[in-house]
Amino acid sequence: MMGLGEGSSSSFRDYEFTFESYLQDPGQTEVVSHSESNGELDSQSLSESIAVFQKENGRTYHAYRAGSYHFPNDPTEAERLDEQHAMLQFVMGGRNYLAPLSHVKPPQRILDIATGTGAWAIEMGDEFPESEITGTDLSPIQPEYVPPNVRFFVEDSADEWDYCHNFDYIHARMTVGCWSDYRSQVLAQAFAHLNPGGYFEAQEINGILLSDDHTIPPYCPIVQWTDEINAASKQAHRDVTFAPLLKGWMEKAGFVDVHEHVFKIPLNGWPIDSRLKHIGMLWQRNMLNGLSAFSLGLLSRFRGRTKEEIELELVGVRRDLFDPRMHAYQRFYVVWGRKPMEGECT
Ligand SMILES: C[S@@+](CC[C@H](N)C(=O)[O-])C[C@H]1O[C@@H](n2cnc3c(N)ncnc32)[C@H](O)[C@@H]1O
Repeated sequence: MMGLGEGSSSSFRDYEFTFESYLQDPGQTEVVSHSESNGELDSQSLSESIAVFQKENGRTYHAYRAGSYHFPNDPTEAERLDEQHAMLQFVMGGRNYLAPLSHVKPPQRILDIATGTGAWAIEMGDEFPESEITGTDLSPIQPEYVPPNVRFFVEDSADEWDYCHNFDYIHARMTVGCWSDYRSQVLAQAFAHLNPGGYFEAQEINGILLSDDHTIPPYCPIVQWTDEINAASKQAHRDVTFAPLLKGWMEKAGFVDVHEHVFKIPLNGWPIDSRLKHIGMLWQRNMLNGLSAFSLGLLSRFRGRTKEEIELELVGVRRDLFDPRMHAYQRFYVVWGRKPMEGECT
């Protein structure tokens, strides 16, 4: 893992490699390595190696720490992530965060771990032009042209964080399936790397299907598929059902003023309420576009299923996603908390 210095590339030199994308220097990918046996930098080969994505079942996957995350990183998935970003923003009433950030005294440094396409980080860069926004991910799939106060790095956030400075706000969204231990890899590290008074915010969906009126048949394809995905995720040590635990975990990690807001995300346009109906239609579209992505890596790697078997199973799941008689929804948890000030009684 790399450190982030104050505009100094020398601060990256002790680390395996780094990747940066700046508006001031569009199109430049800086990759620095000290892992070569002769001690010479071989930027070119490393630059290529993080961009040579692993191909599997017609999709591509991250090259850095290959095999540790089981969802693809190709343009189809990037498009789904961008649509999901717009949808979640709508769910949250047009906001990107619920923590009480101030525009009068904006956070100086913001960190977005597992940033994906960087859409959230880029919008935060626009909303807080005086803040410095850092986005990190296993995949360099962020755009080249970004606001001058936004930068991206390839990084495995499950590793020990080694930043040269602390942050005032740390954010992680839709990262279920990314961690073997959220508490030590994310929460404890976020707490340690926040300035006193700084906020951590988690925005996570729970991979469990619910209905308030018992309209989900117990053995229908979408229930079986969900159970299988959840079981494969556990087998992969990448749980996708930890969202309801976040509030308690954050309090135990030392955060104070911890708040939780839970949103309902219907699986299709079944609700009568027009806002929820709209969210359901957007989520249905996202699920339809993401079904193969969610399934192929996990079910082939951990359940020994072939691509053809998986696609066959998804036929029934797609049918269920169009069934308005099933009043299914998922819960989206937004949880935020503050690192106490030094000496603050908690
Ligand atoms: C579902 S996407 C969410 C992206 C973004 N946070 C959003 O809300 O649009 C999850 C992202 O986590 C990244 N990821 C997975 N494991 C990671 C890790 N250990 N360290 C850093 N990024 C990781 C993946 O590459 C992927 O881009």
